[in-house]
Amino acid sequence: MNYYNQLLEKLKNSPRTWLVSGCAGFIGSNLVEALLKLDQRVVGLDNFATGFQANIDEVSELVSKEQWARFRFIEGDICDLITCQKAMYFEGKPVDHVLHQAALGSVPRSIADPIATNAANISGQLTMMVAAKDAGVKSFVYAASSSTYGDHPALPKLEDRTGKPLSPYAVTKVVNEMYADVFSSTYGFKATGLRYFNVFGKRQNPNGAYAAVIPKWAGAMMTGDDLYINGDGKTSRDFCYIENAVQANLLAATAIKEVQGEVFNVAVGDCTTLSQLFKYLGEALSSHYISYVKPPVYRDFRPGDVRHSQADIGKAQRLLGYAPTHTISDGIAEAMPWYISYYQQ
Ligand SMILES: NC(=O)c1ccc[n+]([C@@H]2O[C@H](COP(=O)([O-])OP(=O)(O)OC[C@H]3O[C@@H](n4cnc5c(N)ncnc54)[C@H](O)[C@@H]3O)[C@@H](O)[C@H]2O)c1
Repeated sequence: MNYYNQLLEKLKNSPRTWLVSGCAGFIGSNLVEALLKLDQRVVGLDNFATGFQANIDEVSELVSKEQWARFRFIEGDICDLITCQKAMYFEGKPVDHVLHQAALGSVPRSIADPIATNAANISGQLTMMVAAKDAGVKSFVYAASSSTYGDHPALPKLEDRTGKPLSPYAVTKVVNEMYADVFSSTYGFKATGLRYFNVFGKRQNPNGAYAAVIPKWAGAMMTGDDLYINGDGKTSRDFCYIENAVQANLLAATAIKEVQGEVFNVAVGDCTTLSQLFKYLGEALSSHYISYVKPPVYRDFRPGDVRHSQADIGKAQRLLGYAPTHTISDGIAEAMPWYISYYQQ
């Protein structure tokens, strides 16, 4: 049995309490689902800025009645200290672990409205850390981002080689890491950062101008709409299936003290161009007898986007025992039925 499976056994046999911020969003709702399925007690916090009640409802249908009874939802803003303080407790006792996912994602959104992104991502995380520190939680894991690598050209990305941020969103994720460092040195409070690289999977919003590429393209292919490639199709990403990100969170939250407070790349260590991604999605859909016959429409590169992104996941492997279970193709195959049912409703 590998280390992660042992951890799952351990959690199941001796359940803990967790706070998941951003629980109505994509990654947060998947974390809540995974934790409830392990019989954990979970507080969820969200203000529905970009998340959906439907995501929470879907989780309620995927877990047993007994498991659902262990979930408490708080609707509120992570920038509000009293809300965060309240969320740190489950039935009068501080939660053991915080998985802080709430933020305003998307580089283009941050370019259009840097003030909103700054407030949710920087003030929000700061408020969550103050509340978690004061409540005395055992661990705090937060969603960092590969955007922190900015204009550093080296590939694959190693945690300690970062460049200049290329967007307001990236600035907020850099500042999150700076605050985490300062909380460690000034208060001895350790917050562990997971630098996600293009996470994808079920419940990732396919709609709107700020949708991520995989759900957006899956949606376009299903509805027969035009599908746009920003740039020449050679831009590449290390697409990371949600199961891998869930694994990284559980490992980081329960990691030994010496490892807490570090930052880790969370990805697969692969590199897929947008042209390859277009092909993979088309193949996955055709295995469900859906075909998309239009060629992609090429348009300008998007400001703020990095050209290539590929992670070195050695640090997470060594220090957390992280072992991604899904390649991009595995993940697309697993996520596709969700997109199909989403568009067939
Ligand atoms: N999905 C990715 O590929 C990716 C990559 C790098 C980093 N991240 C980070 O991971 C985290 C989760 O991303 P996601 O893809 O699940 O996004 P998402 O938009 O689906 O989820 C974010 C959730 O946070 C909530 N939220 C936003 N502002 C809030 C506030 N002020 N108070 C309370 N709740 C608030 C939203 O309503 C939403 O439910 C974010 O921090 C994001 O920056 C995601």
